[in-house]
Amino acid sequence: MNNNPIFIPIASGKGGVGKSIITANLALSLANSGHSVVAIDLDLGGSNLYSYLALGNKYPGIGDYLTSKKGKLKDYLIRTNFENLQFLAAEHRIAFMANIAHAQKVKLINEIKNIQADYILLDLGAGTTFNTLDYFDFSKNGIVITTFEKPAIFNTLSFIKNFIHRVALKEAKQNHKLNLEINKAYKNIVGDEFLKINDIIEIIEQIDPELALKITDLCKSYHPRIIFNRGTHPDQLEVINHLQPSIKRNLSVELCFFGFLFEDVSVNLSSNKGSVLLDEYPECIASKGINEIAKRIAKFNNKVIPNSSDLLIKDTQEKFELWNSDLVY
Ligand SMILES: Nc1ncnc2c1ncn2[C@@H]1O[C@H](COP(=O)(O)OP(=O)(O)O)[C@@H](O)[C@H]1O
Ligand SMILES: [Mg+2]
Repeated sequence: MNNNPIFIPIASGKGGVGKSIITANLALSLANSGHSVVAIDLDLGGSNLYSYLALGNKYPGIGDYLTSKKGKLKDYLIRTNFENLQFLAAEHRIAFMANIAHAQKVKLINEIKNIQADYILLDLGAGTTFNTLDYFDFSKNGIVITTFEKPAIFNTLSFIKNFIHRVALKEAKQNHKLNLEINKAYKNIVGDEFLKINDIIEIIEQIDPELALKITDLCKSYHPRIIFNRGTHPDQLEVINHLQPSIKRNLSVELCFFGFLFEDVSVNLSSNKGSVLLDEYPECIASKGINEIAKRIAKFNNKVIPNSSDLLIKDTQEKFELWNSDLVY
């Protein structure tokens, strides 16, 4: 058991792209390799991670902890049917949990940091509410899931843009004058322009150059990991080359292209049966893909992966050739 867990927040700009199924099965894959793992449902207000872990919606969780005001969050951890894998539920009977106040969020984040495990996976709600952006900040290498559909890709970039703005603004907030200037800049946007992180750093530079440097370094320390889900062919990864110029221009953050999962009918079959994909269909291509990603997580942990896009493209092509006979669309 590890006192310094590796946190893996799993987010997406668009809903329905596979966050929860991937969280559940990555958690099981890491647990199957002997790591102690906790899967937390942080999609407060839209939770369903329990079902992807073949559990009922009957366990008290984060909502009960926050409203009962007693005990520790870790008292709400429950065993799953799988060795090494524990689960923390969201809010099976408490309404409006997506909107918890700032103080409650801070308390929740601190309590999650007190849970002991090798890996703690956090299934987040879709979109860019402040709460979700702050949960994504559990790691410098959080995972963002996308499909290859254009709206999902656009929302992925928008999620990362919002996240980095949030990181920068939280730092700048301590300086009142700066805060006013930044708010003014947000309000003065005209036409279809939008404020880039570099624009904000320029404003900061004029008032507090040291802080501007600090924030630039801070933003650069994040390497969100992108997993493409529901792919049908490795050539779809060409989208990375189309995205790179826009990422460089607008995001000021280096993305890590981390995984590719194939479209697989077994995903739906397992959830309809109420079983866990990796347990029910361990040999299907989605399970194989999840196991590959789990191995990559354990191999790199929080390290930066150089040339991630080349590596991902090469690996996906190899797997496509290897698994081609199993692919059924
Ligand atoms: N690789 C895949 N192949 C086929 N279906 C998938 C795949 N990944 C996800 N799905 C389907 O997409 C739907 C949404 O998945 P879910 O994990 O609930 O998304 P989210 O948590 O992002 O809202 C589910 O019905 C799931 O079965
Ligand atoms: Mg979900």
